[in-house]
Amino acid sequence: MASLSIKAKAMVFVVVVLLQLLTVVFGFSAEAPSSSEQREFDYFVLALQWPGSSCKNPGKCCPSNACCRGAESPTEFTIHGLWPQYNEKGWPSCCTDASFNENEINILTEDIQKYWPTYRCGTTSTCHQTKGSFWAHEYEKHGTCAAPVIVGEYDYFLTTITIFSKYNVTKVLSDAGFVASNTEKYPIEDVVAAIKNEFNNATPKISCAKKGAVKELWLCFDKSFEPRDCNLPNSCPDFIKFPTYEPQEPNKVEGAIPWIADVEEII
Ligand SMILES: *[C@@H]1O[C@H](CO)[C@@H](O)[C@H](O)[C@H]1NC(C)=O
Repeated sequence: MASLSIKAKAMVFVVVVLLQLLTVVFGFSAEAPSSSEQREFDYFVLALQWPGSSCKNPGKCCPSNACCRGAESPTEFTIHGLWPQYNEKGWPSCCTDASFNENEINILTEDIQKYWPTYRCGTTSTCHQTKGSFWAHEYEKHGTCAAPVIVGEYDYFLTTITIFSKYNVTKVLSDAGFVASNTEKYPIEDVVAAIKNEFNNATPKISCAKKGAVKELWLCFDKSFEPRDCNLPNSCPDFIKFPTYEPQEPNKVEGAIPWIADVEEII
């Protein structure tokens, strides 16, 4: 800890406080996650991550971290998760007591490694007060709430990959001239218009990190997987960019701050 800058120490402090808060929240919800208390969801969010932003802060390198695949690292949007949502604020979570079992999705491993990688090394919360992989978190927390539209783990991963391939937002953007660049900025309204134009006039939600760097892009779908408006505010300035991904060199990030928590754990 001695080698951390003041800013990094402040960050660690904030994260620790957040974790404590989460423990309180989870402590309560974990006692009564019974499905009868959470009504059926209204629509789906397909949350996508932009690798150029997700890999920006030096995390540690490890086999699971897609930022560390060198030339094989992702350069297009990848999946964060498919999340059942309520029309009003919020979403159901941890709806059954199913546990993630990687063997159930063996046949999809290659696709999910490629299209649904984690950009971290750490584990994340499951619904059983344990820690698990990114996939375990997404399935247990969100996937178990997708019934009756999606039932079971295999169906959850297969459906998500299928929708992701069908609504290829990276392709829509590059066809419209919006490409990865560290310097080029685009008016957000033009980016949104290009997506709406291809996807049934449905409005996405775009989230930005610093200086208009796109971090996440959410596409929303009704229960028949037809695109619909997200009706969620963007968190971006008027001009946005899609930062280029610069592959992490494992030995250069050895002293980097390990990831303790991030949005993955919170949503
Ligand atoms: C999306 O389209 C791009 C071409 O722009 C292609 O490289 C990529 O494989 C496609 N993604 C999926 C999931 O099919």
